[in-house]
Amino acid sequence: MQEIVVGRKKDNLFIRDAGYIGRYIVGEGEDIHLTSKIYLDFQKPHVILIAGKRGSGKSYAAGVILEEFLELEEKVKKEACFIVVDPMGIYWSLKFENKEQKKMLEEWNLKPKKYKDVKIIIPAPVAQDYKQANIPYDDVLTLSLSEFSANDWILALNLNRNSEEAITLIKIFSKLPAEYEMDDIIDAIKDDNSITQKVKNYLLNVFTSVNTFNIFSRKGLKLSDIVEGGKVVIIDVSRLQGDEFGLKNLLVAWLARKIYHSRLQSRKLEESLKLKGEKIEKKFPFVWLFLEEAHNFIPSQGETTSTEPLLTIAKQGREPGIGLVVITQMPNKIHSDVLRQTDIVFCFRITSKEDIEALHTIMQTYVKEDIEVMLSKLPKFPGAAIILDDNLERIIRIQVRPRKSWHAGGTAVI
Ligand SMILES: Nc1ncnc2c1ncn2[C@@H]1O[C@H](COP(=O)(O)OP(=O)(O)O)[C@@H](O)[C@H]1O
Ligand SMILES: [Mg+2]
Repeated sequence: MQEIVVGRKKDNLFIRDAGYIGRYIVGEGEDIHLTSKIYLDFQKPHVILIAGKRGSGKSYAAGVILEEFLELEEKVKKEACFIVVDPMGIYWSLKFENKEQKKMLEEWNLKPKKYKDVKIIIPAPVAQDYKQANIPYDDVLTLSLSEFSANDWILALNLNRNSEEAITLIKIFSKLPAEYEMDDIIDAIKDDNSITQKVKNYLLNVFTSVNTFNIFSRKGLKLSDIVEGGKVVIIDVSRLQGDEFGLKNLLVAWLARKIYHSRLQSRKLEESLKLKGEKIEKKFPFVWLFLEEAHNFIPSQGETTSTEPLLTIAKQGREPGIGLVVITQMPNKIHSDVLRQTDIVFCFRITSKEDIEALHTIMQTYVKEDIEVMLSKLPKFPGAAIILDDNLERIIRIQVRPRKSWHAGGTAVI
């Protein structure tokens, strides 16, 4: 079998700016074995779906992709930044060696390794736990409240647009000063005598509760505090409180919007420098955004705060240089527009008919039965997957390589 670079056209076979992610699985049953190396392309941004049942190797594979990004030569690496929204709080372990699977690594001719170019951002309440566990972190997550509109909150709170609550929010927000803080919102609600008591109580409860989570402030992090060329940035939201108020979706919406605008601006600048024949210096690196539990951020049913900004990235991100990696147990619960934009699928074990159906909608070029047969031929151990690649126009079976850094996936939160 020929070594290949997944995500690249057949005629571009040079193995550079690519990461070694695993080996071909060949044969069936007793005869099953691994052959040539499989690489993943880092030259272009991709929209990648990683799907599979719980424990099948999704997060582990995402970790392998991150490791390979960090192994790129310095010059290439500096051009991009990989951001992971981590709802399980497991990716910090990239900073530690994989001692648990040392033997397996030896069989693959690999050595345990820890990565230093990993930046960890955590919500304030988790800081103590990180300190106790002796895990270094780099920044505390804060967001500028005034960067979120009434409409963001209407979606975050899952309000009907025509409801009294939603209409009141729009009215309140239209009267706020430029860089408003939580107190401004709370006062505006309190002072408005035209709001019925029921709606007043509801909104006061929402914003006073959100205020206790210590995530919003007048001056929150800027995207330039987060994004840095050559780094993997982990945003640990495992214990970010306030899911009932859609806070994780607000965070992801903000990230996606800012990344898109920053890249668009940078792209314009790069193009004009290129036209003038000047040396191109990237002001703002390419970004790849990894989303675990992605069905929560771009669900197939209903709209969340993060839906529209993520759809924009999925549909229009390639041109300005934004990659998207969506990870889920339930591909059929992911917005169909994102599925349609996907050019690479890693599918670990799945069984449900709906999920196979969902995969088929992505890759119309493949016969559904072919996908089913390939999936049924996968060995039962974790890390075995099929890859559907729109660029190579092929389905292959892969065994994802063991991780060099530790995978805290099994252990969940610290
Ligand atoms: N490619 C692999 N090689 C070796 N072990 C793996 C591989 N992928 C997964 N595993 C094992 O399976 C466990 C579950 O994988 P994980 O990626 O956390 O599952 P999930 O699909 O739920 O994200 C890991 O903790 C690891 O022990
Ligand atoms: Mg996982």
